[in-house]
Amino acid sequence: AAPQRLALRGDLLDFTATPALDDPHSPVVRWRPDHWLLIEGERIAAVLPPEQAPGDDWQHIDHRGRLILPGFIDTHVHCPQLDVIASYGTSLLDWLDTYTFPAERRFADPAVAQVGAELFLDALAAHGTTSAVVFPTVHAASSEALLASAARRGMRLITGKVLMDCHAPDGLRDDVASARADCLAQIEHWHGQGRLAYALTVRFAPTSTPAQLAMAGELLRATPGAYMQTHVAENQDEVRWVAELFPEARSYLDVYHRFGLLNERAVLAHGIWLDAADRTVLHDTGAHIAHCPTSNLFLGSGLFDWRAAVACEFGVSMATDVGGGTSLSMQRTLAEAYKVQALRGQRLSAWAALHAATRGAAQALRLGDEIGGLNPGQFADLAVWDWAHGPVATHRDAVACGQVAPLPAQDLHARAFAWMMLSDERNLVQTWIAGCPQAAGAASAATMPA
Ligand code: GUN
Ligand code: ZN
Repeated sequence: AAPQRLALRGDLLDFTATPALDDPHSPVVRWRPDHWLLIEGERIAAVLPPEQAPGDDWQHIDHRGRLILPGFIDTHVHCPQLDVIASYGTSLLDWLDTYTFPAERRFADPAVAQVGAELFLDALAAHGTTSAVVFPTVHAASSEALLASAARRGMRLITGKVLMDCHAPDGLRDDVASARADCLAQIEHWHGQGRLAYALTVRFAPTSTPAQLAMAGELLRATPGAYMQTHVAENQDEVRWVAELFPEARSYLDVYHRFGLLNERAVLAHGIWLDAADRTVLHDTGAHIAHCPTSNLFLGSGLFDWRAAVACEFGVSMATDVGGGTSLSMQRTLAEAYKVQALRGQRLSAWAALHAATRGAAQALRLGDEIGGLNPGQFADLAVWDWAHGPVATHRDAVACGQVAPLPAQDLHARAFAWMMLSDERNLVQTWIAGCPQAAGAASAATMPA
């Protein structure tokens, strides 16, 4: 059969380069209002101005007056932690022991892992997120379920079973030999299949022995295109614990560096408590930081220094870190990122924020040719959004558009910024993954087994 040919009409917004952190007039914003986005099969075929309507061999889908963005890329999120999102009263190390580890133990059961993976990937789509770098649990069944489900969806997903062989409770530890065998089997089966890539997933330095960290480094080097994901320098008690456990390391980040775990496909969540030497290492190795503002505020971890990242020229992507984070919504995540930078005396434009959640993340993951923009040849991973939901946001958007006299119309940045601060998944009209519409509201339909 001939590939499907679709033409979506709406307000297209994406980026052609990296905007400065605080420039509302950035020239790298590509705003194409009321344009046609042509999708052939699973990829974007072309973008046309309104007067060049494609012929009737293209199925027209009218989203006039709506915003069409590249699908969001969530570069750090924990599938099994939907069970513990919004848990009261703890900071990181406590929170892991009290809420997270007990929840993750449930995923030893392949049936739970299976349902959990479907619920989770449905939920990502229901928030306009089309690609993700995901933590499952230590159980091979949990990464297997995610990889199989993402493969069925044609989704760009990066994951791998969590490595943790110490300082974790019973039922949540592996050992070097079994972890190595599980990773090798899953790499063989899934890595590079369709849109999947494997990530050597070191939970964090405290939960792996030196032997396991060395094993992860060995597999990373032996597997072209493999990723490494972990946590780094999130919380000050955690940083002190790592210094006790690894006295020979110069810093927390240096633990990973010494075991060969930092490369251009390394994704490190948080990176709040880094120093100048660490930042140089990130730059030199090509590793990048997944910034998780809702998590950092919720767990009281600290305020990420984005300006220093720009100065040291290492990548920053955006991540929800659910369930330390409090929402799968990328807009809510970006809104909190704005507030974190405000507390640091740094302005964060809507452009810098939206870029980091789309093209910036794609580049940091070395996937800029595949995702993150609305360019011909890229996968048709996108989301269609209403500019406003509810009376307050609707009124605010009307002000931005100059429809509330005598207030003057505002510029595009003012409108996009208000959207970023006020919108969430209720604004979502439709998510597309590889040219396929995703079931709207699927997240609310799925249920977890008791
Ligand atoms: N550090 C080690 N494990 C975790 C986790 O599950 N969430 C967060 N936020 N930090 C971690
Ligand atoms: Zn995390």
